[in-house]
Parts: sequence; C-alpha cells; structure tokens
Amino acid sequence: MAVERTLSIIKPDAVQKNAIGAILGRFEQAGLRVAATKMMHLSRDEAGGFYAVHKARPFYGELCDFMSSGPVVVTVLEGEGAIAKNRDLMGATNPKDAAAGTIRADFADSIDANAVHGSDSAETAAWEIGYFFGQREIFSR
Ligand code: PPS
Repeated sequence: MAVERTLSIIKPDAVQKNAIGAILGRFEQAGLRVAATKMMHLSRDEAGGFYAVHKARPFYGELCDFMSSGPVVVTVLEGEGAIAKNRDLMGATNPKDAAAGTIRADFADSIDANAVHGSDSAETAAWEIGYFFGQREIFSR
C-alpha cells in the first residue's frame, strides 16, 4: 500500500474536552506518523475558505461558526493508506452512526460537533494540507 499524507483537524469540541493527546495517540497507535501539527484559532473567513466546497449546503454557516468558535489542532498524518485509515479511525460523520471504538463514538456529541475532520481523497488531502502548511513545516520519516 502506498504511503500517503492526510489532513486531520481536532475540532473545538474535542480540544475543549482535553482530548488532544488521546486522539493523536490513536493515530500513532494505528501506525500513522505526525508529520506536522499546530494549534490554531481559525477566523470565520479561514473556516469558510476551508469548507468552501460545502458552501451551498444548509449547514455551511453553522459549520463555519463552530469551526471558528475555539482553537483546533491541525495535523498532517503520514503512513500507508493514511487517508482511509484516518477515516476508519474517525468513524461515521454522525456519532450516532459511528462504530464502537472510533474517535467520534468516543469523543463526539453530535453531527455538528463531531470531534475530528479527515481528508476524504488524495486530491482533497493535498489541497487541505496546502491550506495550512508550507512544505518546510512537514517532516517525513
Ligand atoms: S463527509 O465527512 O465530508 O463525508 O461528510 P458530509 O456529510 O459531506 O459533511 C461535510 C462536513 O460537514 C459537516 N456536517 C455538518 N455540520 C453541521 N451540521 C450538519 N447537519 C452537518 N452535516 C455534516 C461534517 O461534519 C463534515 O465536516 P468535516 O469537518 O469535513 O468532518
């Protein structure tokens, strides 16, 4: 399987719950490596730009409000099949549907405060990583 990079965001609800270490630990325990990470408080415009692909969806405004409501942790994860592996670890978008043992089952409260974001394809991952990180901030090993 190819080594990939994917973007993870630990959302404001999970940061507020003091779950940063627990969530990053799950990625590492599953064999993913942290290639870059930083804590940020997104402006509403930064959140809006990140989620621009969802602009026409009814929840876009609430999603941008939520993602700019407090600090987040943005991380580049690297490893074999990192994009799908991260999505598996996250669980379903709605925590009510998330399988037991997934991050959303364990840390998320609702579909609009669902603990983590993860890139859904290689193309999206490349764009999302470039939204937050320069090449000199990412470390492969
Ligand atoms: S996904 O993960 O992209 O397949 O999910 P999708 O259903 O397309 O949702 C895209 C992002 O919008 C968030 N979302 C919502 N936010 C607020 N309210 C409602 N009802 C809602 N439905 C979906 C969802 O968590 C996705 O955010 P990210 O950050 O990409 O996980």
